[in-house]
Amino acid sequence: MNQLKKAKMVVDKEFKIAEIDSRIYGSFIEHLGRAVYGGIYEPDHQNADEHGFRKDVIDLVKDLQVPIVRYPGGNMVSAYDWEDGVGPKEERPRRLELAWRTIEPNDVGTNEFVDWAKKVNSEVMMAINLGTRGIDAARNFIEYCNHPGGTYWSDLRKEHGYEQPHNIKTWCLGNEMDGPWQVGHKTADEYGRLAQETAKAMRLVDPSIELVACGSSNSRMPTFPQWEATTLEHTYDEVDFISLHQYFGNRDNDSENYLANGLEMDHFIKTVIATCDYIKAKKRSKKQMYLSFDEWNVWYHSNQADKQIDPWTIAPPQLEDHYNFEDALLVGSILITFLKNADRIKMACMAQLVNVIAPIMTENEGRSWKQTIYYPYMHASVFGRGVSLKPAISSPVYDTKDFTDVPYVDSAVVYNEEQEEVTIFALNRHVHESLEFSIDVRSFEGYHLDEHIVLEHDDLKAVNTVDEQVVKPHHNGNAKLDNGSIQAVLSNASWNVIRLSKR
Ligand code: AHR
Repeated sequence: MNQLKKAKMVVDKEFKIAEIDSRIYGSFIEHLGRAVYGGIYEPDHQNADEHGFRKDVIDLVKDLQVPIVRYPGGNMVSAYDWEDGVGPKEERPRRLELAWRTIEPNDVGTNEFVDWAKKVNSEVMMAINLGTRGIDAARNFIEYCNHPGGTYWSDLRKEHGYEQPHNIKTWCLGNEMDGPWQVGHKTADEYGRLAQETAKAMRLVDPSIELVACGSSNSRMPTFPQWEATTLEHTYDEVDFISLHQYFGNRDNDSENYLANGLEMDHFIKTVIATCDYIKAKKRSKKQMYLSFDEWNVWYHSNQADKQIDPWTIAPPQLEDHYNFEDALLVGSILITFLKNADRIKMACMAQLVNVIAPIMTENEGRSWKQTIYYPYMHASVFGRGVSLKPAISSPVYDTKDFTDVPYVDSAVVYNEEQEEVTIFALNRHVHESLEFSIDVRSFEGYHLDEHIVLEHDDLKAVNTVDEQVVKPHHNGNAKLDNGSIQAVLSNASWNVIRLSKR
């Protein structure tokens, strides 16, 4: 009988990367496809609340404990007039939505979304239009949202039924402005100057806000990372974050290679950090620039289907990726990568949340259900709060088409000192073989093992449906803690959550 491959890890509570900003478990709702209409909002649905929001969807979002939701786009925001979405619904215009070539009825806008975010216990990360618009629309918008009253725009908010300001703290200065597909696409210099001046005006209205400048749309853009350098040359003193976006797909059905994409993510993050720190050095600045990974996910299953969708309809089924088991494994690996970079990544948004490349799906007039990727996202969000610890991992490695020395085992460790809990997230990327994993946890004296949750399936392509949760976690993992050492066999292609506590 073949011996199992072995991996080991040492964790010590003194080896801290950083306190985790819970906003790394954020998500995203764009006015795109059935995310809003038929997703979070369906006034005629039997589960709709008094505002037209689906209560079944609210419950599924609440279970994920999503701390922040980016809104209203995405590509959509680059030609969006925020004024269309406020005031009496019967007076709101229908518009051609140019990014996704649909019709936007404007039944949901800023105020409704703020209401919905409260229902799901989330903050709003608001994106402004720096494609077709600029400083003027932005300063009016923030006055409408955040100014207490006594001025034209803040009093208009009150007239619309919102006496108290929304106090939206986090604002994105446009979306993917480096992308030629973007309405109002700009060069880095054009964008950098506009972002800088818009940031200045917005801060004059409300100095307490946090601002995110657009980084590249993905690491393969020809202008990456010069885009970041130029943008930050202009905006370094005005903004708090630079954004990163990245989507993955197993287009050539090479699962070993696909599951190694956490390494690509890490390389992207490290390159953006290096670029931020280069500008910091150039400017002799003491300020640390943080990263907002505000769009990430798997996105490719729906590419062909989307080509068949007719333009100019309301809420067509766009970007409805049907996720399989291996997608959930990659999502787990991405979340591990964020935890390992918790000192610089302070926000991240799984794109998106409902129906559109999403963990939550709905049927119009029907049921809602969980995709495979729902589970690692939920585990990380619910159990991944505290301090991210630096694990010393030694694992056997493999090579693929795009990567060399890919560790079979990837892991991140979260220590919640207050709750006296430790959570180990571990992925076995080996698609055929189980692996022995031993973890030295001697620094956690008096802790015992609570549970070992496992997401596994013998078919990497297994999917969930509205009728059946084929891929879902079980709590029968085999991890044992003895004398400060955890021993576990991680089954082939598996996502594992090992939880310890002192209670
Ligand atoms: O999330 C889908 C789209 O991906 C967003 O609208 C855009 O920002 C990105 O290209």
